[in-house]
Amino acid sequence: MEDYLKEYTERTPGSAKLYARAMQVMPGGVSHNMRYFPPYPLYIKKASGSRIWDVDGNEYIDLWMGHYAHILGHQPEPIVRGLPEKTAQGAHWGIVNEYQVAFAEDICRIVPCAEKVRFGVSGTEATMYAVRLARAFTGRNVILKVRGGWHGPGTDLSVALHAPMDVAESAGLPPGVAEYTKTISFNDIEGTIATLHRNGPDLAGVIIEAVGQYFIPPADGFLQAVQEETKKLGGVFILDEIITGCRLSLRGAQGRYGVKPDLTTMGKVLGGGMNLGLVAGRKDIMELASPTSGLPKGRGVLMGGGTFSCMLPSMIAGRAMLKHLEKYEGEIYPALEDQGQQLRKGIENAFRSQGIAAKCFGVGSLFTTCFPSSAEAPLRNIEDVELGTDIARRDKEFRLRLLNKGVYTIYGGGALSMAHTEEDRQRIIKAVKETATEMSMAKTQVVNKNI
Ligand SMILES: Cc1ncc(COP(=O)(O)O)c(C=O)c1O
Repeated sequence: MEDYLKEYTERTPGSAKLYARAMQVMPGGVSHNMRYFPPYPLYIKKASGSRIWDVDGNEYIDLWMGHYAHILGHQPEPIVRGLPEKTAQGAHWGIVNEYQVAFAEDICRIVPCAEKVRFGVSGTEATMYAVRLARAFTGRNVILKVRGGWHGPGTDLSVALHAPMDVAESAGLPPGVAEYTKTISFNDIEGTIATLHRNGPDLAGVIIEAVGQYFIPPADGFLQAVQEETKKLGGVFILDEIITGCRLSLRGAQGRYGVKPDLTTMGKVLGGGMNLGLVAGRKDIMELASPTSGLPKGRGVLMGGGTFSCMLPSMIAGRAMLKHLEKYEGEIYPALEDQGQQLRKGIENAFRSQGIAAKCFGVGSLFTTCFPSSAEAPLRNIEDVELGTDIARRDKEFRLRLLNKGVYTIYGGGALSMAHTEEDRQRIIKAVKETATEMSMAKTQVVNKNI
């Protein structure tokens, strides 16, 4: 057994026991595939600020931050303050109230493309509705998505998530999903424009994140080209801002990169730590979902909402988060930008000093690390990363070695929050330096063994 694996199992006997129990009652022992990793995931019992604690009492600096949702850290005081008292009258009324109106008003004031908003409970629900709206508005069928792009596991968008991209992602999908959901490659301007035009007459829209998988930044002009050509062809440009919304800037990626989608989807940060998903955008498109549209059955869009849509905690915490981010915009975003930049540089330098090629991608507070097979390997999108880097090494060795040093990462990185202190960032870099040294020693041992 590798040394780091042995150390992980020795430090986490409580997690091993819980995993064995979970395996008896939950498929794979988890309720979200990304929460599993071999040999078994860490079970935590407490989270606060930048930290989490596992059931064995080990403390970690968390870099996943509630699937990137916690921009102010776990349980941020300005957001959770007063929440229990406010929701003591009931967390779920299921009837309209002022909290949701006020939150929607703030979103329409701040998010550039938002003229109207519909709230749901998850990002998956939001992207499902965005796609349906695009098809209904255009009367066309084809949606283009980025290869590797994750928009939740809804049926329409469960296409080309992982390599091999052309094999169906799941059993149980109706035939024809891939016929109407086609793909483009992130940062491939020429290929994307060609695909857009090839589907022109039946193009309902494009759904895309502004930052690629593994947080690869968009190439100059890529997003603008996708927006321009989609609109030119009469399609709906959907910007999925579930990760980037209120994270890359107060106005999300649309504020940062100066694009104006027809529709956008948001959740995560904007939920203030509670569950939220929303679609927002152009009035004329959103109105298709209105019960007052007067459209005959089959012409309007069924956007049911859901039993738990607009739950009080989500509306109150979400609005408090948006207000807080607006008030401290000038402090929060420049700080996260600067800290993210320094961390990426620090990680790359740590590996370089040990003779290991590592690339740390990211934008703002988001980052991932990967291990390219050569310094020249072009890494423009997920296909390049999956072909040209050692993913297994990142997800197993890098992850477990960092866990052993008290740092919890996802995909070789994660998201910084305002709760991460200078000391936390130094500890992360120190842990990466130690990890780089160990990885370089382990490599030398393997080479020596093979001589
Ligand atoms: C870009 C993007 N869209 C949609 C989703 C789905 O959101 P949820 O997990 O809230 O259903 C995610 C979740 O990770 C996401 O990252």
